[in-house]
Amino acid sequence: MKGVVFNILEDMVTEKGGLMMWQKVIDKAGVEGGYTAVSTYSDDELFSIVGAVVAELDLPAETVISAFGTYMFGQLASRYPVFVDSCDDLFSFLESIDSVIHLEVKKLLTETNLPSISCERVGDDQLVMDYRSPRRLCVLAEGLIYGAAEHYQRPIMIEHPVCMHKGSDHCDIRVQLTHE
Ligand code: HEM
Repeated sequence: MKGVVFNILEDMVTEKGGLMMWQKVIDKAGVEGGYTAVSTYSDDELFSIVGAVVAELDLPAETVISAFGTYMFGQLASRYPVFVDSCDDLFSFLESIDSVIHLEVKKLLTETNLPSISCERVGDDQLVMDYRSPRRLCVLAEGLIYGAAEHYQRPIMIEHPVCMHKGSDHCDIRVQLTHE
């Protein structure tokens, strides 16, 4: 996983719990810390840090990973504004992840490990996202989608009826506009 993801996790932990908290988490995870945005680090290192955050906060892993996804969206949107600026509605933005955003990320950074995400519209109010990745970070994807929905000010509900964690070869993430 790219260092930028570790940098954003460090930002989130220090923003919520201070520098001491980050140091504690790093120690508990048994890693050195200190990540360069464009370098690649092992996925296991990220998972160890997330595990240490989960243990420190005593919250379910899914809650922490989803919250991290939402925080990560805000950070990515401010670090790479061009992607969100070029789409003016939520579903067009989500449809552009694979074909535009992650494609550009691949060109910008070498050795990337990105998921495959394809989208299908079901009527005007639902988008079904087919997520595939050996890292099985569908909960992170959900958090990112909630972050995007906040950005575009579109209230949504997410259902996840098909999941790689339940033996499927992919996840179906159904994003429903709720018109609150
Ligand atoms: C709602 C929108 C987005 C979704 C659902 C999404 C989904 C994901 C997921 C789930 C991962 C983890 C890797 C995996 O699952 O295999 C990932 C990685 C990543 N994404 Fe996205 N993404 C979104 C928007 C963005 C944006 C706006 C950027 C900005 C450039 C971005 C850049 C990245 C980068 C740099 C990585 C790390 C790649 C690596 O470590 O090699 N993503 N994305």
